[in-house]
Amino acid sequence: MIDRRFTFETWRDTARPWLAAGHKADEIRWLETASELTERATAGVEAGSMPRTPHELRLPRPLMLLLENLAYFRHDSRWELMYRLAWRVLYENPQLLADPAEPDVANAMSMDRAVRRDIHKMHAFVRFREIVTEGGESSYFAWFEPQHEILRPGAKFFVKRFPNMRWTIATPDGAAVWDKASLQFVAPQFAGERPANDAQEDLWRTYYHCICNVARINPTAMQREMPKHYWRNLPEATEIPALMKHGGAKFAARHTESDHENFTGARSLRRSLDQLHVPVEGVQTCRACDIWKNATQAVEGEGPPSAKLMLVGEQPGDEEDLQGRPFVGPAGKVLNDALTAAGIQRSEIYITNAVKHFKWEARGKRRLHKKPSSGEIRICNVWLRKEIETTKPTVIVALGASALSALHGSSFSIEAARHLDLTHPAGARILATFHPSAILRAEGERAPILRTALVEDLKRASRLVPTPT
Ligand code: URA
Repeated sequence: MIDRRFTFETWRDTARPWLAAGHKADEIRWLETASELTERATAGVEAGSMPRTPHELRLPRPLMLLLENLAYFRHDSRWELMYRLAWRVLYENPQLLADPAEPDVANAMSMDRAVRRDIHKMHAFVRFREIVTEGGESSYFAWFEPQHEILRPGAKFFVKRFPNMRWTIATPDGAAVWDKASLQFVAPQFAGERPANDAQEDLWRTYYHCICNVARINPTAMQREMPKHYWRNLPEATEIPALMKHGGAKFAARHTESDHENFTGARSLRRSLDQLHVPVEGVQTCRACDIWKNATQAVEGEGPPSAKLMLVGEQPGDEEDLQGRPFVGPAGKVLNDALTAAGIQRSEIYITNAVKHFKWEARGKRRLHKKPSSGEIRICNVWLRKEIETTKPTVIVALGASALSALHGSSFSIEAARHLDLTHPAGARILATFHPSAILRAEGERAPILRTALVEDLKRASRLVPTPT
């Protein structure tokens, strides 16, 4: 396995002694060019003699995180900008990053945003095709053309999402290969063949056709979310022009029986790719309250059907509504960190919400979370109960008061409920704890207190789950 690209790490190791010796950015010429990219991994700079006694260097963590992202930005100027930023923070202004109007900072921030956006697009637009090997084992292959060099940071998400599949994500810069145990990065010439179209392409097309609400298509917004650059590798993108042409009524008329069958096939494909869903039949068409009207889709629970530990949140947020998965936005990040701290693998538990659609109100261009009413929570309980009946967890963690009310009907404060012994009608133990969003909203010292409590409660829940004999 080789990867000889000039990376953030090679930049860091090259820049460190020069920074330590105080050399300014204009004393150094970065030799990196696009044509050298795959050939050179060392000696990134050309200057007089190397500094002899570099001092210990400490760059602030926010700067390091920013620099790491800038290294993924596909432009030769990045290395010099990174060096200049580091030099200026060290020798000129430690608070430099706090000034967004400063040209270097503004440039870096917009590059950082572009990289993040590209990573996000990779997560959303990678489409795997199944390849059955001679031994009969399936592996999955995806071809993706990112705008920036984001294969490494982008691939980690797929390890968490598809840990039990063998997959390869190939890009013009090289490929990420997951063999169910380790993630390797290989150079483009080792990335393997791109498989021809297969049946999944048609299923993707049908799936997209069915979830796409033409009545709500806004071409400008749609292209902002799904820029044309990505279309050529998206099987469903061939549907877009036709969908935009047909109005809502015509679209409804096109939902024929066979479409419906294909749609079911496409959804089960998504499920088999995810390997994780407990199907909740009917939730996508649930109209029992009004929340669905402004939501993109119902967000079903996620996790192995045999999971003994279930986590229940309140309702999907903006990001969850778009991606169709629970806890994938900012609160999801807090939750993931807490799960890791508690020694729990997210892929081994079942995560869902008390309410399946996103309830929100517009604030300018933003969609702000709006708390579901107790009536809406009660109505939606039919879906949560189905998930509990199917999964049969032994322990259910209620994340926040709405989840607690859905699971137990009680309106205890979380502070009080944390210390109570509660049981769900299906027999599972209920543990109440703070919602990850409460940690995001908490100010001052309260945030770390709530975070510690969440981690402790998750640990306690995990201890209550009987270990398989
Ligand atoms: N908050 C929740 O309660 N659930 C989610 O899925 C995301 C945020």
